[in-house]
Amino acid sequence: MQPHSRNSALDPLAKRTLGELVAEMPARAPIMESLRFDYCCHGGRTLEEVCRQQGLNVDDIAQRLENPPTPPQADAPGRGPHDDRDWRAASVDELIDHIESVHHAFLRRELPRIDTLAAKVADHHGERDPRLNDVRSVFRLMRAELEMHMIKEEQVLFPFGRRLAAGDAGGHPCGTVRNPVAAMLAEHDDAASSLDRMRHLTEGFKPPPEACHTYRDLLASLTALEADLHVHIHEENNVLFPRLVAYESANQ
Ligand SMILES: [Fe+2]
Ligand SMILES: [Fe+2]
Repeated sequence: MQPHSRNSALDPLAKRTLGELVAEMPARAPIMESLRFDYCCHGGRTLEEVCRQQGLNVDDIAQRLENPPTPPQADAPGRGPHDDRDWRAASVDELIDHIESVHHAFLRRELPRIDTLAAKVADHHGERDPRLNDVRSVFRLMRAELEMHMIKEEQVLFPFGRRLAAGDAGGHPCGTVRNPVAAMLAEHDDAASSLDRMRHLTEGFKPPPEACHTYRDLLASLTALEADLHVHIHEENNVLFPRLVAYESANQ
């Protein structure tokens, strides 16, 4: 059984889930980001449902999502040349290769750099604004958790997924693939909560007028990290993981 076998693209946008809408057209992600729609960790809700909750006119939003502007540039932070493609049509191997070479590589590059920025900003401005000390602590913990998370995906879940996609029925030490998937979903929620916390502590990653260059760099880098992590989590939660579960069921 393949996920997304129903031809949901024929349904009106309002009736479709946020995850499905971004999977079909990744250029919709920045629009959802600007509306603060959670399309990654809670991508199973319909557009109609989310608009109703946020008091927005669903027809207006659907119109914006119908024809999104050109996808982010390939050289934007964390953006690979293929982030605008519908990954549901790619092979599991291609999607995992993309996640590792684009999103994991982005995190491995950015997490240490932002950690240094967060420490400098806390050291210089933390006395005047103690919230910046909290940003540093939240970031440190998130960094450690994400680095461990990527190792678990690369060494356990992704090789397991590649085997399932190749038709291997299982016999994996994890038992069912649902076990590592459930663990990764919970860790995605934790990372998203840390980002929300840092967003709250910095009033939406907005630098105060007197902010120095390093302070501005920190907030711009956190904004880019958040956007990339949302796309990354979306590609795993809404595209890759359901496919691995479907392959496992089909192989049994
Ligand atoms: Fe990942
Ligand atoms: Fe992940």
